[in-house]
Amino acid sequence: MKFFIDTADVNEIKKAHAMGLVDGVTTNPSLVAKTGRPFEEIIKEIVTIVDGPISAEATSTDTEGMLKEARHLSSIHENIVVKIPLTAEGLQAVTTLHKENIKTNVTLCFSPNQALLAAKAGATYISPFVGRLDDVAHVGMDLIEQILNIYENYEFDTQVLVASIRNPIHVNEAALMGAHVATIPYKVMLQLVKHPLTDVGIQKFLDDWKKVPK
Ligand code: G3P
Repeated sequence: MKFFIDTADVNEIKKAHAMGLVDGVTTNPSLVAKTGRPFEEIIKEIVTIVDGPISAEATSTDTEGMLKEARHLSSIHENIVVKIPLTAEGLQAVTTLHKENIKTNVTLCFSPNQALLAAKAGATYISPFVGRLDDVAHVGMDLIEQILNIYENYEFDTQVLVASIRNPIHVNEAALMGAHVATIPYKVMLQLVKHPLTDVGIQKFLDDWKKVPK
């Protein structure tokens, strides 16, 4: 399973990348706003840090606006993947961008039917938001299982990119289900590393090592 980091904070990206945990990056308007930096400045820096798919979101809501943004964003670097919202206008844009060989990440997916439409439109990635479904008492990971089944039935090329990940269980279940990608906040990446028995074991080894004659 590919690990993308879900952040626009270049310091987080650098730290996670140094641990070998970053195959790509996903950003969105909220994550970019948190940095207080201009959008393109951030994207142009991220592509120098990570040699992998970098998702940058189009903010237009009309098809022509999305197409204009997507063509510009994709011209910045070959690794740019354009995030497009799952709307009728977005599906029109994705269909055109697919024909132009511009990679897309269809975002804000909350149902298996939406994911089916994105695959038929030629999306490179689909981003189902599991955490936000959990927030409204739906089991977000059930959506991932349904999408993977549908995509397997029809051999779609669209990759399932599990998004809105809130905890290590989301990552574990995504891997067990065979999701192609998990986009993970830096905080959750650190949680994946930690286990209390590892810490206890290290301390025991160090304590015993002190008894070894030098
Ligand atoms: O990539 C989408 C992700 O950033 C959304 O996460 O926690 O805002 O639902 P969240």
